[in-house]
Amino acid sequence: MTKIGIDAMSFYVPHRYIALSELAEHHGIDPGKFSRGIGQEKIAMPGADEDIVTMAAEAAQVLIDDHGAEGIDTVLFATETGIDQSKAAGIYVHRLLNLPENCRAVELKQACYSATAALQMACGHVARKPTARVLVIASDVARYDRDTSGEPTQGAAAVAMLVCANPGLMEIDPETGCHTEDIMDFWRPNYRRTPLFDGKYSALRYLDAVLSTWRDYQANGGRRYEDLTRFCYHLPFSRMGEKAHRHLAKHAGAKPDAAAASDGMTYARQVGNCYAASLYLSLISTLETSQDDLTDQAIGLFSYGSGAVAEFFSGRIVAGYRDRLYTARHADLLQHRDAVSYSGYTELWERVDPRDGTAVTLPKQSRGQFRLAGFNEHQRLYVKD
Ligand code: CAA
Repeated sequence: MTKIGIDAMSFYVPHRYIALSELAEHHGIDPGKFSRGIGQEKIAMPGADEDIVTMAAEAAQVLIDDHGAEGIDTVLFATETGIDQSKAAGIYVHRLLNLPENCRAVELKQACYSATAALQMACGHVARKPTARVLVIASDVARYDRDTSGEPTQGAAAVAMLVCANPGLMEIDPETGCHTEDIMDFWRPNYRRTPLFDGKYSALRYLDAVLSTWRDYQANGGRRYEDLTRFCYHLPFSRMGEKAHRHLAKHAGAKPDAAAASDGMTYARQVGNCYAASLYLSLISTLETSQDDLTDQAIGLFSYGSGAVAEFFSGRIVAGYRDRLYTARHADLLQHRDAVSYSGYTELWERVDPRDGTAVTLPKQSRGQFRLAGFNEHQRLYVKD
């Protein structure tokens, strides 16, 4: 059977962040609550001229530069912070990247899970048409009301992946385990900028979903626990992944091995939650920060989107995978960022897009090549510098 999976992947994160120590100081609480209690250090904050489209284009451009646009016949854009109720954000990215016109572009939504649906759909499409390549993008801005338990778990980032036959990075196994359940652990009605959520309940449902997807994955012929050498989790905050991994190991009758999941958390601590992109940032983090050569190793991945849909699946890392990553670029993006003060953070947080259709020009602030240059007649104006 033809192997199908991820050929190359990259991420983008805005260049501003607030350190959680700064947030802790403002709230007068022990910084250990954030650094150890939830395992987070920074919250990435997009500027006025950045959004899910500009972050997505930044993440994807390097893939197109290196692997070309030929044969890309589908763009799947996964997000839960969409910018339009009708038009797919992927259409803007399609234009900014100059992708072929004979291509479809759609947006997928199911909280933080939708990129996994996109990845599985991309694999299904390539199985039917092995010459096709699919650009899968996950891009989100995770924002919670200030002074809530979710506030320290905010963040923003985009991940882009090319999916094709005989991939150069990771073959995705066809066996998978799914779970869907109608629950209200986290949701965002159309009229709200920020979600409503029950944090503790959501964490419990997440842990339950780890086991139900694992059972389904096993029932469908998935790999044994001991054959998976690394685990990547959706990471609303890194301690959630630690707890999930212990929970799964216990269920599988294995000794908890924190190291098998820890490389996947390195980038998340520096970025914060990035919803649909989070699991895939964890995968990049695992592949780029692991000291070991992961060639031929099998990796387990757990995707969770509140509401809720979850999936456990796996894949095998392909020889030469390090050449399909952007380790130096990613290190540079994470290291060369500017810290903002608490007041700088509130300013970025409070900013809202104009709603009256008037023309607004935004000065360039971002460091990327794509930006939101302004608004006019209720349209978002994106440019490539
Ligand atoms: N030093 C070290 N640790 C400390 C500490 C200190 N000074 N103070 C507290 N802690 C520890 C606590 O003991 C606790 O540890 P355990 O989890 O081991 O019990 C931990 O810090 C967390 O503290 P709290 O129990 O007081 O909880 P919290 O107020 O930090 O809230 C949360 C936790 C409810 C999950 C909150 O982060 C939240 O509401 N997050 C948003 C929702 C979310 O992320 N849910 C996750 C599952 S849903 C999902 O995954 C989808 C998604 O992306 C949203």
